Amino acid sequence: MSGSALIVFAHPYPDRSRAGRVLLDAVRDVPRASVRSLYGLYPDFAIDVEAERAALLAAQSVVWLCPFYWYGVPALLHLWFEKVLAHGWAYGEGGTAVRGKRALWVTTTGAPETAYAPGQVHGRPFEAYAPAVEQTARFCGMRWEPYVVVHGAHRISDATLAERAAEVRARILTLTALTEADDA
Ligand SMILES: Cc1cc2nc3c(=O)[nH]c(=O)nc-3n(C[C@H](O)[C@H](O)[C@H](O)COP(=O)(O)O)c2cc1C
Repeated sequence: MSGSALIVFAHPYPDRSRAGRVLLDAVRDVPRASVRSLYGLYPDFAIDVEAERAALLAAQSVVWLCPFYWYGVPALLHLWFEKVLAHGWAYGEGGTAVRGKRALWVTTTGAPETAYAPGQVHGRPFEAYAPAVEQTARFCGMRWEPYVVVHGAHRISDATLAERAAEVRARILTLTALTEADDA
Protein backbone atom coordinates (compact mmCIF):
# COMPACT_ATOMS: atom_id res chain seq x y z
CA MET A 1 0.00 0.00 0.00
CA SER A 2 1.36 3.37 -0.96
CA GLY A 3 2.65 5.34 2.02
CA SER A 4 2.47 2.41 4.41
CA ALA A 5 4.68 2.33 7.48
CA LEU A 6 5.83 -0.69 9.44
CA ILE A 7 6.34 0.03 13.14
CA VAL A 8 8.68 -2.49 14.67
CA PHE A 9 8.20 -2.25 18.44
CA ALA A 10 10.92 -3.86 20.50
CA HIS A 11 10.34 -3.64 24.23
CA PRO A 12 11.18 -6.71 26.29
CA TYR A 13 8.82 -5.76 29.14
CA PRO A 14 5.84 -4.00 27.54
CA ASP A 15 3.76 -4.49 30.69
CA ARG A 16 6.29 -2.54 32.72
CA SER A 17 6.89 0.08 30.06
CA ARG A 18 5.82 3.63 30.73
CA ALA A 19 7.30 5.65 27.87
CA GLY A 20 7.31 3.02 25.16
CA ARG A 21 3.71 2.14 25.84
CA VAL A 22 2.58 5.78 25.62
CA LEU A 23 4.48 6.24 22.36
CA LEU A 24 3.08 3.04 20.89
CA ASP A 25 -0.48 3.90 21.93
CA ALA A 26 -0.10 7.26 20.21
CA VAL A 27 0.90 5.76 16.87
CA ARG A 28 -0.74 2.36 16.58
CA ASP A 29 -3.81 3.73 14.78
CA VAL A 30 -1.94 5.95 12.33
CA PRO A 31 -3.60 5.28 8.96
CA ARG A 32 -1.51 2.93 6.80
CA ALA A 33 0.73 1.99 9.72
CA SER A 34 1.00 -1.52 11.10
CA VAL A 35 2.73 -2.64 14.26
CA ARG A 36 4.81 -5.72 14.89
CA SER A 37 5.71 -6.21 18.52
CA LEU A 38 8.88 -8.28 18.37
CA TYR A 39 9.02 -9.53 21.96
CA GLY A 40 5.34 -10.48 21.77
CA LEU A 41 5.84 -12.36 18.50
CA TYR A 42 9.15 -13.98 19.40
CA PRO A 43 9.53 -14.47 23.16
CA ASP A 44 11.94 -17.31 22.32
CA PHE A 45 13.95 -15.10 19.92
CA ALA A 46 13.06 -17.42 17.01
CA ILE A 47 12.37 -14.69 14.48
CA ASP A 48 10.21 -15.70 11.51
CA VAL A 49 12.48 -14.11 8.94
CA GLU A 50 10.11 -14.64 6.01
CA ALA A 51 7.22 -13.03 7.87
CA GLU A 52 9.36 -10.06 8.88
CA ARG A 53 10.63 -9.64 5.35
CA ALA A 54 7.12 -9.82 3.93
CA ALA A 55 6.00 -7.08 6.34
CA LEU A 56 8.99 -4.96 5.44
CA LEU A 57 8.51 -5.45 1.70
CA ALA A 58 4.88 -4.38 2.01
CA ALA A 59 5.87 -1.12 3.69
CA GLN A 60 7.43 2.01 2.27
CA SER A 61 8.99 2.96 5.57
CA VAL A 62 10.05 1.35 8.80
CA VAL A 63 9.94 2.80 12.30
CA TRP A 64 12.07 1.14 14.96
CA LEU A 65 10.50 2.00 18.31
CA CYS A 66 12.42 0.79 21.34
CA PRO A 67 14.01 1.72 24.65
CA PHE A 68 17.70 2.57 24.54
CA TYR A 69 19.62 -0.33 26.10
CA TRP A 70 23.35 -0.36 26.70
CA TYR A 71 23.92 2.39 24.16
CA GLY A 72 22.04 0.65 21.42
CA VAL A 73 18.87 -1.24 20.57
CA PRO A 74 17.48 -4.12 22.65
CA ALA A 75 18.82 -7.58 21.86
CA LEU A 76 15.84 -8.84 19.87
CA LEU A 77 15.88 -5.80 17.59
CA HIS A 78 19.58 -6.31 17.10
CA LEU A 79 18.90 -9.93 16.18
CA TRP A 80 16.16 -8.69 13.80
CA PHE A 81 18.82 -6.56 12.09
CA GLU A 82 21.09 -9.59 11.82
CA LYS A 83 18.49 -12.04 10.54
CA VAL A 84 16.16 -9.86 8.47
CA LEU A 85 18.65 -7.43 6.96
CA ALA A 86 20.88 -10.19 5.71
CA HIS A 87 23.37 -10.42 2.88
CA GLY A 88 21.78 -11.04 -0.50
CA TRP A 89 18.48 -9.60 0.68
CA ALA A 90 19.19 -6.22 2.23
CA TYR A 91 22.77 -5.67 1.07
CA GLY A 92 25.46 -7.24 -1.09
CA GLU A 93 24.87 -8.91 -4.42
CA GLY A 94 21.15 -8.98 -5.17
CA GLY A 95 20.43 -7.37 -1.81
CA THR A 96 18.16 -4.55 -2.78
CA ALA A 97 14.94 -5.37 -0.90
CA VAL A 98 14.84 -2.32 1.37
CA ARG A 99 16.65 0.13 -0.86
CA GLY A 100 14.88 3.48 -0.94
CA LYS A 101 12.63 2.79 2.04
CA ARG A 102 12.69 5.43 4.74
CA ALA A 103 13.84 4.50 8.24
CA LEU A 104 12.98 6.30 11.47
CA TRP A 105 14.38 5.37 14.88
CA VAL A 106 12.38 6.36 17.94
CA THR A 107 13.96 5.59 21.29
CA THR A 108 13.62 6.41 24.98
CA THR A 109 16.39 6.74 27.53
CA GLY A 110 16.36 6.41 31.28
CA ALA A 111 18.83 9.24 31.69
CA PRO A 112 18.08 12.90 31.11
CA GLU A 113 19.76 14.67 28.22
CA THR A 114 22.20 16.38 30.64
CA ALA A 115 23.68 12.96 31.48
CA TYR A 116 24.77 12.65 27.86
CA ALA A 117 27.78 14.96 27.95
CA PRO A 118 31.53 14.72 28.58
CA GLY A 119 32.20 14.23 32.29
CA GLN A 120 28.64 13.09 32.92
CA VAL A 121 27.47 9.55 33.57
CA HIS A 122 26.99 8.63 29.89
CA GLY A 123 30.19 10.37 28.79
CA ARG A 124 29.16 11.61 25.37
CA PRO A 125 26.29 13.40 23.68
CA PHE A 126 23.51 11.05 22.68
CA GLU A 127 24.37 11.78 19.02
CA ALA A 128 27.60 9.83 19.53
CA TYR A 129 25.64 6.61 20.05
CA ALA A 130 23.24 6.92 17.12
CA PRO A 131 25.55 6.31 14.12
CA ALA A 132 25.53 2.50 14.39
CA VAL A 133 21.75 2.41 13.92
CA GLU A 134 21.86 5.09 11.25
CA GLN A 135 24.56 3.32 9.30
CA THR A 136 22.72 -0.02 9.51
CA ALA A 137 19.89 1.63 7.62
CA ARG A 138 22.14 3.49 5.22
CA PHE A 139 24.24 0.41 4.49
CA CYS A 140 21.06 -1.24 3.25
CA GLY A 141 20.28 1.74 1.03
CA MET A 142 17.54 3.09 3.26
CA ARG A 143 16.80 6.76 3.63
CA TRP A 144 17.58 7.78 7.17
CA GLU A 145 15.16 10.17 8.83
CA PRO A 146 16.24 12.36 11.76
CA TYR A 147 15.69 10.15 14.82
CA VAL A 148 13.55 10.95 17.86
CA VAL A 149 14.90 10.41 21.36
CA VAL A 150 12.78 10.88 24.45
CA HIS A 151 15.18 11.42 27.32
CA GLY A 152 14.49 10.83 30.98
CA ALA A 153 11.67 8.44 30.24
CA HIS A 154 11.06 7.63 33.91
CA ARG A 155 11.08 11.21 35.11
CA ILE A 156 9.38 13.37 32.52
CA SER A 157 5.86 14.43 33.38
CA ASP A 158 2.83 12.77 31.87
CA ALA A 159 2.17 16.02 29.98
CA THR A 160 5.66 16.13 28.48
CA LEU A 161 5.47 12.47 27.56
CA ALA A 162 2.11 13.08 25.87
CA GLU A 163 3.64 15.98 23.92
CA ARG A 164 6.53 13.81 22.77
CA ALA A 165 4.09 11.06 21.80
CA ALA A 166 2.11 13.55 19.70
CA GLU A 167 5.38 14.60 18.07
CA VAL A 168 6.18 10.98 17.20
CA ARG A 169 2.69 10.49 15.78
CA ALA A 170 3.15 13.61 13.63
CA ARG A 171 6.51 12.32 12.41
CA ILE A 172 4.98 9.01 11.33
CA LEU A 173 2.11 10.78 9.59
CA THR A 174 4.70 12.86 7.74
CA LEU A 175 6.58 9.69 6.87
CA THR A 176 3.49 8.14 5.30
CA ALA A 177 2.87 11.32 3.31
CA LEU A 178 6.49 11.49 2.19
CA THR A 179 6.60 7.89 1.07
CA GLU A 180 3.33 8.31 -0.79
CA ALA A 181 4.98 11.18 -2.66
CA ASP A 182 8.09 9.01 -3.24
CA ASP A 183 5.81 6.53 -4.99
CA ALA A 184 4.04 9.08 -7.19
C1 LIG B 1 19.20 -3.52 30.13
C2 LIG B 1 18.99 -2.03 30.21
C3 LIG B 1 19.91 -1.19 29.64
C4 LIG B 1 19.71 0.20 29.66
N1 LIG B 1 20.65 1.02 29.09
C5 LIG B 1 20.44 2.35 29.12
C6 LIG B 1 21.40 3.23 28.52
O1 LIG B 1 22.41 2.83 27.94
N2 LIG B 1 21.16 4.57 28.59
C7 LIG B 1 20.04 5.09 29.21
O2 LIG B 1 19.88 6.32 29.23
N3 LIG B 1 19.10 4.27 29.75
C8 LIG B 1 19.28 2.93 29.72
N4 LIG B 1 18.34 2.10 30.26
C9 LIG B 1 17.04 2.68 30.71
C10 LIG B 1 15.98 2.51 29.63
O3 LIG B 1 16.33 3.17 28.44
C11 LIG B 1 14.67 3.04 30.15
O4 LIG B 1 14.29 2.22 31.24
C12 LIG B 1 13.57 3.04 29.10
O5 LIG B 1 13.88 3.90 28.04
C13 LIG B 1 12.26 3.48 29.72
O6 LIG B 1 11.22 3.27 28.79
P1 LIG B 1 9.95 2.37 29.17
O7 LIG B 1 9.17 3.13 30.20
O8 LIG B 1 9.22 2.19 27.88
O9 LIG B 1 10.49 1.07 29.72
C14 LIG B 1 18.54 0.73 30.27
C15 LIG B 1 17.61 -0.15 30.86
C16 LIG B 1 17.84 -1.51 30.83
C17 LIG B 1 16.82 -2.42 31.47
